[in-house]
Amino acid sequence: MALYSDKVMDHFRNPRNVGVIENADGIGEVGNAKCGDIMKIYLKIDNDIISDVKFETFGCGSAIASSSMATELIKGKPLSEALTLTNQAVTEALDGLPAHKIHCSVLAEEAIRNAVKDYYDKNGIDYDPDMFKNCNCHHEHDVQE
Ligand code: FES
Repeated sequence: MALYSDKVMDHFRNPRNVGVIENADGIGEVGNAKCGDIMKIYLKIDNDIISDVKFETFGCGSAIASSSMATELIKGKPLSEALTLTNQAVTEALDGLPAHKIHCSVLAEEAIRNAVKDYYDKNGIDYDPDMFKNCNCHHEHDVQE
């Protein structure tokens, strides 16, 4: 079997929603200290719905494919759904990633959550801080190569 699925290759070669949203309602940026890759997510939010989303990823192919797929999964969805998006869901939608590349999909999950938090903070919207304790997969942040 090829190392990367057709979907990963497709989203890597042809990423969706790349770019910047001027005057975004929420911006989330995360980096992985070990590999040095950085992902930035921009959200446009109308009535709690993500009406537009764009990303910039300075990172590996799996990080680009994960960001692309993650933006597709949350576009047009309510914020509550974006907050429950897990890196596992992104990985499954990509038909899998090699084990040592799972941490790349974690960046997408975290960048989206940070962007939603940024939106809440900027608008003085109350939330339970526990929602943003980041993901539960810190061990996967370690790059194993
Ligand atoms: Fe760093 Fe993929 S995000 S290697």
